[in-house]
Amino acid sequence: MQSPTVFHAPKRLLMGPGPSDAAPSVLKAMAMPLVGHLDPSFIQMMEEIKGMLRSVFQTTHNMTFPVSGTGSAGMEFCMVNLVEPGDEVVVCINGVFGMRMAEVAERCGAKVIKVEAPWGQIIEASQVAKALEGRKPKLVGLVHAETSTGALTPVEEISELAHQAGALMLLDTVTSLAGCEVNVDKWQIDAVYSGTQKCLSCPPGLSPVSLSDKALEVAQSRRERVQSWYLDVNLLNGYWGTERVYHHTAPISMNYALHEALRLVLEEGLETRWKRHQQNHERLVAGLSEMGLGIASQPGHQLWQLNAVTVPEGIDEASVRQQLLKDHQIEVGAGLGPLKGKIWRVGLMGESSRPEHVDQLLGSLKSILSR
Ligand SMILES: Cc1ncc(COP(=O)(O)O)c(C=O)c1O
Repeated sequence: MQSPTVFHAPKRLLMGPGPSDAAPSVLKAMAMPLVGHLDPSFIQMMEEIKGMLRSVFQTTHNMTFPVSGTGSAGMEFCMVNLVEPGDEVVVCINGVFGMRMAEVAERCGAKVIKVEAPWGQIIEASQVAKALEGRKPKLVGLVHAETSTGALTPVEEISELAHQAGALMLLDTVTSLAGCEVNVDKWQIDAVYSGTQKCLSCPPGLSPVSLSDKALEVAQSRRERVQSWYLDVNLLNGYWGTERVYHHTAPISMNYALHEALRLVLEEGLETRWKRHQQNHERLVAGLSEMGLGIASQPGHQLWQLNAVTVPEGIDEASVRQQLLKDHQIEVGAGLGPLKGKIWRVGLMGESSRPEHVDQLLGSLKSILSR
């Protein structure tokens, strides 16, 4: 093999389903010198991360911290700690990530009851109520913002139904957190996970999670040990809790980045940030409509941070994406599963959600489509 040259990443505008662009100060934070994972300065910073995550999740849950791993690690963390072989679990599926959640539950040995809606539609609370009739499942799992389809399912009523059935409520907020309202305490969410690379605008690599006291009790009073050593909350608590004993070597630079990203989110203010996401979504929708293009997901429940743009008849969607990337340095995503070839997934997440980016994309799309 020839000796490789230094890698230089091209400058892209990240307007796909994630990662989104990171703020310069977040990238700069990653270039700080490393300290040890038990260094007093690092431990102090970990405390600040936990506090800021509680503010962003809108929770007082003590067990709130970032799992070392991407969003899928947060999903597995919640499932492996809460679910034991033979448990009944209800999983809502209206896209790729609901499917993944069901598979993870199955791999934990759960008997999974699936509540399904067509891709692009939300999960209706009445569907969950029906699935819960005569059942006492351990947990109900829901993807708040389905990144594969651009649909935002309302949570509160489903969470209420889960609790009435004696189940824990698990929520995926990988794409929703910091881009629209996520209120863990008000919605009584027992287990929640997210990812750093979407509306938090940080590189991928950490998965913020939060467990209620009730969920923690479930994890602490299991019949069997948690099958994953790496994701066992009882062990992780030794590091992220007050004891501060070695469990694994925390990804130091990623935690610097998350600290700075959370600081920026709180400096902007949650509601101001959500409003910004809404306004840029509306700007995109208006511009698309002028070009005769629309959004494929259910009206009234369309995500601000992930827009499922309908590909016009006769257009080769992959070729448009390639031209956007090659000639305009803009990344957008393709449709998945039944939506493959039918939509472009346009992310307006965190730093990427700016009016000038919307205009740049609309201009580029117009010039490609007019050809
Ligand atoms: C809703 C949702 N859940 C889970 C995941 C998995 O996260 P990751 O790819 O960071 O492992 C994603 C990733 O796009 C997602 O959008």
